Amino acid sequence: MNKIRCAILGCGNVGSALVSQLIVGHDDIVKRTGVDIEIAGIAVRDVAKHRDAKHGYIDGSLFTDDPFALVNDSSVDIVVELIGGTDPASQLIDRAIETGKSVVSANKELLARRGSDLVSAAASAGVELLYEAAVAGAIPVVRLLAESLAAEQLYRVSGIVNGTTNFVLSAMSEEGVDYHEALEEAQRLGLAESNPSADVDGYDAAAKAAILAGIAYRCDVRLDDVAREGITRVRAEDVQYARQLGYIIKLLVVTELNQKSRPNVSENQASQAPTAPQVSQAPTVPQAPAASTVPQVSVRVYPAMVPVSHPLASVRGAHNAVFIEGERCGEIMLYGQGAGGVPTASAVMGDLVDAAAKRLAGHQPYASMVPAREPVPRAYVIPPSELRCAWYINMDVRDQPGVLAAVAHVFGDNGVSIRSMEQVGMGSEARLIFVTHEAREGDIDKTLEELHGLGAVENIGGILRVFGESKTR
Ligand SMILES: NC(=O)c1ccc[n+]([C@@H]2O[C@H](COP(=O)([O-])OP(=O)(O)OC[C@H]3O[C@@H](n4cnc5c(N)ncnc54)[C@H](OP(=O)(O)O)[C@@H]3O)[C@@H](O)[C@H]2O)c1
Repeated sequence: MNKIRCAILGCGNVGSALVSQLIVGHDDIVKRTGVDIEIAGIAVRDVAKHRDAKHGYIDGSLFTDDPFALVNDSSVDIVVELIGGTDPASQLIDRAIETGKSVVSANKELLARRGSDLVSAAASAGVELLYEAAVAGAIPVVRLLAESLAAEQLYRVSGIVNGTTNFVLSAMSEEGVDYHEALEEAQRLGLAESNPSADVDGYDAAAKAAILAGIAYRCDVRLDDVAREGITRVRAEDVQYARQLGYIIKLLVVTELNQKSRPNVSENQASQAPTAPQVSQAPTVPQAPAASTVPQVSVRVYPAMVPVSHPLASVRGAHNAVFIEGERCGEIMLYGQGAGGVPTASAVMGDLVDAAAKRLAGHQPYASMVPAREPVPRAYVIPPSELRCAWYINMDVRDQPGVLAAVAHVFGDNGVSIRSMEQVGMGSEARLIFVTHEAREGDIDKTLEELHGLGAVENIGGILRVFGESKTR
């Protein structure tokens, strides 16, 4: 049987689990898949570093601190990049593609920044570029979107793709602790870094949102396109009020395709589309396209109130889930472990076996795993101010006659209709908890600005979007 030689770049959490699976599971992999994968070398930053005892049987001569030498080795068929970050991972992947090697990577940051370029380069070079592990660890969402649902008209892909923030929010909801206590618990359990910004500020989820939207809607969506809010401002009291109202707060990625850019939909059927991007948009965002062939998408990360009846509300602890909505497939939810060395390595292994099998069979790279054989169009990203959803707004006001009417006027003047209101007495103040009907985000911004200017409004605390039905159906 022909062997496939792979170079593994990085032997940290994911790399060491992959090496272990390749060595311990070698015979089983051959039996199950018919491919015989041999490790050509393992690149690390520090070859002298003590590695876990379970890898003691790895031939020490496989380790190198020169990843470029490994990538340039002409006997290598597949490069598995598990270093992370942009440098030198970006240059290493470029070099691997240039020298005709297939590439497997789990690097969400790099794919969210350069995914479209890398996909085009790989397609031109006739090699595979596979990145299942970059989005939701062990959950096979990339392959599902790219292959099984390749012909499906998807209109929304949303989900919980960051286990740390889901753990924190679950602890706040179930144990009644505040954000800081929940985060400390996550750090104690090794679920959050000592600097948790990548998770709690939504950067990690934003990278995954960009990748998901690009595959789902076959367009080029980049990290800078993603409107991002983290969970640091989610207060314990809002989590408890949400529960009383029948919601669970989750950090969601929400990607949607505007109906206007979907085929077979006439312009006058289309939902409202923006005429120009707002100033708050990143400079890379193009002007609103005249032609309906350019995909118009919204790609966002934010803490949202999810109705308890929605499947995403039941995703607890550090688990991940992706919820897919499409024209013919209806609703699909994938659930599982979104991080951790062993589960992530499981997804990397799937890609590695796939790339190896195709190489052995002399297949052309499978076009559907990349968004398209031709370069995909740059997406038009709809400004957040144009998007509509329902809102939860919690404010403290002076408990005096006429205040409620004044507040209600501000909502009404800005075209925001109130679905429910609860009042909680608090001495000389009253807490008002509003849930609105769907409203344009720009109108909510104006409402909040005017409410801040009302003398009787002491404080506007919780402001959260309510996750509802897709607006693009
Ligand atoms: N961990 C997860 O749960 C998870 C989940 C999904 C995706 N991912 C992605 O998987 C990738 C790897 O993550 P990880 O958690 O395994 O990272 P990690 O534990 O930090 O490991 C990184 C590895 O890269 C090596 N390295 C760093 N700089 C290098 C350089 N210049 N040259 C050669 N080797 C270098 C390190 O060497 P030393 O060992 O000598 O320090 C280490 O072995 C990242 O892209 C990450 O985003 C991770």
